[in-house]
Amino acid sequence: MLKESDGFVSGQDLCSVIGVSRTAVWKVIKQLEEEGYKIEAVRNKGYRLVEVADVMTKAEIGSRIHTKWMGKNLLYLPVTDSTNIQAKKQGEGGAPHGTLVVADCQNAGKGRRGKSWSSPSGTSIYMSFLLRPQIPPQCASMITLIAGLAACQAVREVTKLKAEIKWPNDLVINGKKICGILTEMSAEMEQIHYIVTGIGINVNQQEFPEEIRSRATSLKLEAGRDFSRSELIAGTMEWFERYFEEFLETEDLSQLREEYQALLANMGMEVLVLDPRGKYEGICRGIQEDGELLVERKDGTLCTVMSGEVSVRGIYGYV
Ligand code: BTN
Repeated sequence: MLKESDGFVSGQDLCSVIGVSRTAVWKVIKQLEEEGYKIEAVRNKGYRLVEVADVMTKAEIGSRIHTKWMGKNLLYLPVTDSTNIQAKKQGEGGAPHGTLVVADCQNAGKGRRGKSWSSPSGTSIYMSFLLRPQIPPQCASMITLIAGLAACQAVREVTKLKAEIKWPNDLVINGKKICGILTEMSAEMEQIHYIVTGIGINVNQQEFPEEIRSRATSLKLEAGRDFSRSELIAGTMEWFERYFEEFLETEDLSQLREEYQALLANMGMEVLVLDPRGKYEGICRGIQEDGELLVERKDGTLCTVMSGEVSVRGIYGYV
């Protein structure tokens, strides 16, 4: 009620609409203040929400997610090992398609290739969602690309910063990483049991561990102000649901390719492909409908890159 009102809401109105006593209202106001909401209380006027800062609670995230199925089943954990581990547990336990796990802090955050993901509390987004799509297992890698596109749109919408996608797993701003994505799958040859996609976004951090300082940045460092993690999470859920439904219509990225390429940091750039059979250089010409990267080599031939490391000149120090 406070969020929906421009001015004060009287204690009496809160009591009668919710059907509780004045003392109960006062207790909840105190609890909200502890969670980080700034609320002004004036005698004979009531309560007014002054500012919704970066509050991240189950209620705050849930109240912002306006989707049909994505993130509707929400698990919020103040501290956990890794939201990917927790989302996989949810998968094993039969949780529904679209289940979202969010944590304020991870003590075993996982990056790709067995690396760890620095996960301090109070400043970043650590979220993983569970999907149960009826698609062939070989289509699963496209989920990472859809998640990247959704997170990129949400970051742009909320912050107005020019976030771009570094194919296939990262988001970058001004050549530095702000987001990493890790997709894991439980499947048989023919059938997916479930997919877990984990997204880490550097939102309000001001400091990074020494080893990643030169390659990482945060939305706050780029924009000079704080952002609401709950708003970014909700935005990502909404964009993802929309894109995922479009993807399911064709089981490829044909309907998303144009939007994806418009945000692709690699596009038209010199790239170094670290192919296990030998590295080579070329110019990135976009993605195919199946999500593979198209690279034009110096002799004019077009190659496709399925996954793995692709360095882009100017990003993370490839010169
Ligand atoms: C990478 O760029 O190496 C991928 C990083 C993925 C990090 C996120 S944070 C939320 C989720 N939980 C994890 O343990 N990892 C992913």
